Amino acid sequence: MTLHTHPTPAGACRALIADILCLADSLPKAEPVNIALSGGSTPALLFRLWADEFSAATPWTRIRLFWVDERCVPPTHAESNYGMTERELLSRVPIPAANVLRIHGEAEPAAEALRYSRQALDLLPQAGGFPVFHLVLLGVGDDGHTSSIFPGQEALLTAAEPYAVARHPQSGQRRIALTGQPIVRSPRVAFLVTGSSKAAVIEALQASADSGPAAYLAHAAQGEVDIYGDEAALG
Ligand code: 6PG
Repeated sequence: MTLHTHPTPAGACRALIADILCLADSLPKAEPVNIALSGGSTPALLFRLWADEFSAATPWTRIRLFWVDERCVPPTHAESNYGMTERELLSRVPIPAANVLRIHGEAEPAAEALRYSRQALDLLPQAGGFPVFHLVLLGVGDDGHTSSIFPGQEALLTAAEPYAVARHPQSGQRRIALTGQPIVRSPRVAFLVTGSSKAAVIEALQASADSGPAAYLAHAAQGEVDIYGDEAALG
């Protein structure tokens, strides 16, 4: 587990984007770069800076975007992870539409989890029956959740399906979530965490695998785990 601590959230985002571009550069040019994106509020800055400052340096025809998780709402809804990414990044860069593989938050959740699982398995290399992304980008909630795997929903960490239906413990909102095993098998997992509200959960995550789903996955991951963040979050 490697910590990448930067003075500001923007610094952490720029470092992560630069590393994504290095990853793309290191892969055969005929291959897509398969990235699973998280939502929530933290990556909005990452997406904005990517469009503003790194678009010209990005090989968009090779970047293929999947989602880690989606709220079960239409793409136009304020809580849609795809909607946020579309506003901040996708509408502002020349990525081919065919390279954007969103989760249909407006569809019936169980059927959509199955459809998206099959699509990921069809398009990606596999390990142990799970799809393998080049990079899985994760956030961490103050309660220690990641993807939409919340404390109390640990069965999703070892689920047999790549994507499953999850439920936000407070609001009851349904989500489609990447389960634990594709994250464990990813060659690279990057967490992006900013702000002082994340300091305690990141300290606990570093100290023990038992402090929540994000901590479990950060310790169980078989590939490289990088945590990008600002000083407020990472100390
Ligand atoms: C989501 C996410 C989720 C997120 C964390 C952190 O749909 O909410 O993908 O896993 O990464 O909740 O969220 P913030 O960035 O808003 O703190």
